Amino acid sequence: MMTTRKRSVRDLQVKGKRVFVRVDFNVPLSHGAVSDDTRIRSSLPTLKLILEAGGSAVIASHLGRPKGKPAPELSLKPAGERLAALLGRKVLVAPDCVGAAAEELAGRLGPGEALLLENLRFHPEEEKNDAEFGRSLARLADLYVNDAFGAAHRAHASVVAVTRHLPDPAAGLLMQSEVQALTRLRDHPEKPYVAVLGGAKASDKIDLIHNLLTRVDAILIGGAMAYTFLKARGVPVGTSKIETDRVEGAADIISRAMNTGVRLHLPVDHVVAQSPEPGRPHRLTDTAHIDDGWCGFDIGPRSREAYAEEVRAAATIFWNGPLGMCEVEPYDAGTSAMARAIASTRAFSVVGGGDSVAAVNRLGLASRFSHISTGGGASLEFLSGVELPGLLALSDVTESAPGRAR
Ligand code: ADP
Ligand code: 3PG
Ligand code: MG
Repeated sequence: MMTTRKRSVRDLQVKGKRVFVRVDFNVPLSHGAVSDDTRIRSSLPTLKLILEAGGSAVIASHLGRPKGKPAPELSLKPAGERLAALLGRKVLVAPDCVGAAAEELAGRLGPGEALLLENLRFHPEEEKNDAEFGRSLARLADLYVNDAFGAAHRAHASVVAVTRHLPDPAAGLLMQSEVQALTRLRDHPEKPYVAVLGGAKASDKIDLIHNLLTRVDAILIGGAMAYTFLKARGVPVGTSKIETDRVEGAADIISRAMNTGVRLHLPVDHVVAQSPEPGRPHRLTDTAHIDDGWCGFDIGPRSREAYAEEVRAAATIFWNGPLGMCEVEPYDAGTSAMARAIASTRAFSVVGGGDSVAAVNRLGLASRFSHISTGGGASLEFLSGVELPGLLALSDVTESAPGRAR
């Protein structure tokens, strides 16, 4: 019998070659420094494999959402410094990700040397999956490896277009291990299966919840996304951030959950403030209702307890997105309560997303989770059954089963 798998970095002959490595260094920053380096650490096995085999690495990532223009506060320099410290090697940082300077620096790389390109999203062509921009990136290297599981759901130039101009695009070791861990959760989740969803990217996530509805027993919603759902239920949410064009989608999800027997929980109380600056007054609401002029920044204690109860009964838990503005005290309490609730279960538990994983790490609870995923939106899409463009772009290898162990 023949089986097909994605080509792996291990299949490539990297000695003496320059390898373009797409990583996801979209890491949380605080005062200009990397505040959680999980995503950088996770890229080390692939980078070391290439560098120790006598290849050189041209490393590329996005950071934040600079909207196609250079933004100094979203430079990858701090990530480059952290990478150099973790690798124990010098890492040059190019002033741009394409163009003459980047080509010259890449051209001078010797075996075992690494160059980090500046933020891909300083160019609007990256997010447009622009063919010419993909070609410019490809000029920097001989081979292509994608280790950016966290960005595999984005059909962007460094993920898709570039792969058309380099031979045998391959998956990195992180990409492979993420796919392996999450495939188990996608295909064989033990029931009850509870999804916990929060964070800020409501417009991305709401459509995916439709797909999740057929897979899970309960969905717990928090974070900024919760207010769009409450609005859809007709609950006043004060000045909380809502995505007006997703209110209808949220209403659909609420009614589909009701019809299919999925328990969809929304916050029943909140921590609110007029502004989130530390030290500004905040208060608890009695109900889900938020008064005019007030904004929700965290779920309240009764919501935390109701969510913890669902989590305690689960056999499988997937969590993406903080339940409040967790980088600002006291709005981290809902997220911390969720991390502790999951950590104290024996369920198969996965937490994914730069900010969610950072919150779990801050509490020292990472080892209590079954899998820490570097993907937020990517893991959510994968578990919803969506085929990720970053995986589709990699070449297949067909071999006779059972195949070599990798
Ligand atoms: P992840 O990185 O885990 O995938 P996201 O990037 O989607 O998660 O969201 C993380 C961000 O969401 C954090 O910066 C957090 O401050 C923000 N956030 C969560 N809840 C709220 C809220 N109620 N109001 C404003 N921002 C929020
Ligand atoms: C993430 O943090 O989920 C990934 O790095 C993708 O970032 P994006 O949502 O800005 O595309
Ligand atoms: Mg994030």
